[in-house]
Amino acid sequence: MVTTQLIDFNVERVRADFPILHQEINGRPLVYFDNAATTQKPNAVIEAITKYYRGYNANIHRGIHTLAERATAEFEASRKAIADFLGASSTEEIIFTSGTTMGINLVAQTYGRAFLKAGDEIIISGLEHHSNIVPWQMLCEEKGLVLKVIPVLDSGELDVAAYENLLSEKTKLVAVNHVSNSLGTINPVKDIIAQAHLVGAVVLIDGAQATSHLDIDVQDLDADFYVFSAHKLYGPTGIGVLYGKKALLDAMPPYMGGGEMIKEVTFEKTTYNDLPYKFEAGTPNIADVVALKAALDYIAALGKDTIAAYENQLLAYATETLSEIDGLRIIGQAREKISVVSFVLDGIHHQDIGIILDQQGIAIRTGHHCTQPLMQRFGLLGTCRASFAMYNTTEEIDKLVAGIKRVQRMMA
Ligand code: ALA
Repeated sequence: MVTTQLIDFNVERVRADFPILHQEINGRPLVYFDNAATTQKPNAVIEAITKYYRGYNANIHRGIHTLAERATAEFEASRKAIADFLGASSTEEIIFTSGTTMGINLVAQTYGRAFLKAGDEIIISGLEHHSNIVPWQMLCEEKGLVLKVIPVLDSGELDVAAYENLLSEKTKLVAVNHVSNSLGTINPVKDIIAQAHLVGAVVLIDGAQATSHLDIDVQDLDADFYVFSAHKLYGPTGIGVLYGKKALLDAMPPYMGGGEMIKEVTFEKTTYNDLPYKFEAGTPNIADVVALKAALDYIAALGKDTIAAYENQLLAYATETLSEIDGLRIIGQAREKISVVSFVLDGIHHQDIGIILDQQGIAIRTGHHCTQPLMQRFGLLGTCRASFAMYNTTEEIDKLVAGIKRVQRMMA
């Protein structure tokens, strides 16, 4: 029997703002449960992009004409909104990137190359996405660094005691995710950062899966770097943010060379621009930066706490109803989770489950979720992952449950 109580949240009003949800897939109403891969976009975001291209498309920071000034103002207003969203102390600390992956690579290739030396150690965790593993491996190979990994417990939580043992005066950088994309585990990043700082290491937090679910305050966390992508936050694809403490960003060499990131160029010597422009070579993704602000405004209007409370109830409901299915095992039962449920079914390949659910209009992600080492940790090749957003409903979760039972009948 289902016991989860739902809070009062006008989900139908929210759904009305997301045009993509109102369609049929394979003859059934779409049930979109692949939000950890990318969230859908509200009208406000879609319209912000259209408004820019229809009304004030111009290159920024260069022109003195009216359109260029308007585009620049909207672009910088978005930077300010992001600084506020993250609790950053200044807009100089907000660097636009193409996404989380670029943010991590930027830090590895600038901070890492400039300040880490042979024998230094980097700590990551067993919950990381490939994008928070491979850039560090590449750096380790180039510079002769040592990569250490915080183990994962059976619950899907990090082994914090083991982390403390990995830390030493050799640790120079720690890079962990705020939330696991595969299991939904919320990591105790404030403590992880504090411990790292005791040995003098800097910390990068991969916030890709956190920003749409949790309140972020980089100053309270004392994060040195915090990265995320707009498209997992109801914003557009192709745009992301690197937050970095000003003193660190100031000390780091630039990542890419080109226009905008310079103060003066001669053939003998180039002087670099001030923050944040030093890290923003070339014409940026103006339309999508502007649209990211529309996404933040949309979230703020609904209230992040309200959204989080509703998503938590969806998680509780899904955990309860899915657990009642014979032969279904949930992977990752951390005490602190966002609205992600990863599961496997006895005797049925995850890919078959995904395909049969899609035939019923239900979109989930299957496979290793770009976390192959984590899958190995659990002795799996992959899982099925249902990830919920503010526009999902318990009725949709009921459809997932019915869909899984249908898969079991078909594959019996
Ligand atoms: N990182 C994204 C996911 O977990 C793509 O699905």
